[in-house]
Amino acid sequence: MLDTVKLTPSIGSEVRIDAKALVEGTHATEIRDLLIARGVVAIRGAELNDEQLAAFTATIGEVRRGALHEEEGMLKVVHIPGSFFWHVDGTYTRMPPFATVLAPRVVAPKGGETEFANMYAAFDDLPADEQKYLSTLEVVHTMKAAHNYAVPEPTIERFQSWQGHRSTRPLVWHHKSGRRSLVIGATASHIVGMHFAESHDLLQRLTIHATQDKYVYRHSWKMGDVVIWDNTGTMHRVRPFDPESGRRLHRFAVEGIEPLATESQLSAA
Ligand SMILES: [Fe+2]
Repeated sequence: MLDTVKLTPSIGSEVRIDAKALVEGTHATEIRDLLIARGVVAIRGAELNDEQLAAFTATIGEVRRGALHEEEGMLKVVHIPGSFFWHVDGTYTRMPPFATVLAPRVVAPKGGETEFANMYAAFDDLPADEQKYLSTLEVVHTMKAAHNYAVPEPTIERFQSWQGHRSTRPLVWHHKSGRRSLVIGATASHIVGMHFAESHDLLQRLTIHATQDKYVYRHSWKMGDVVIWDNTGTMHRVRPFDPESGRRLHRFAVEGIEPLATESQLSAA
């Protein structure tokens, strides 16, 4: 049985487990279940090297390959301007990654914490009539929106490179488990068929609601940590840090396991 401690009432659990058991997947099923139930699983003092980190990721699911700038499925996360704003990874794809694994290689002396917000809990706490209304809406996600704050005045080349990243997704993700979560964040440009001002206000209000302290876990990095989160039921962001600090984390992702679907798409599948 796993030795676990809740990090906040609504999101995040710490697991006390040694590196060997992590890499060999001795408790992989329990960790995966905990991940789905708690959104984030943190392990302190694991000290996994890149090969061990890949092996641990593979105990949770299929290691995702083919993302931009990665090497053998691993991305060196240094300073990504868009990551300072709440987002879900892979909203442009029909099947966003299920989970992401991070381990620090250089920790910033100040700042650089990663925050996670529980989007299941945020949805569950909304009034029933609002849940019903939101479930009828679709959101256009664009890479331009993801960079609105970080790169407000891109070069024409950069702007053009974002053009292929655009998708229309349900605002509420109806999961096969029966649970529902909000899919919003920096990639959300606007709501289909709604006046832009009204759309902006709704997305802003939902983001403020979903990122209240009661739904958020803030992870302060220490060398040796491993953190994995359920990308399908959370949003995440990094807190500001000095880029000169050399902060670097290594990342592997787990392939998606279910499409980002509406209720009707799910029942038709
Ligand atoms: Fe991200």
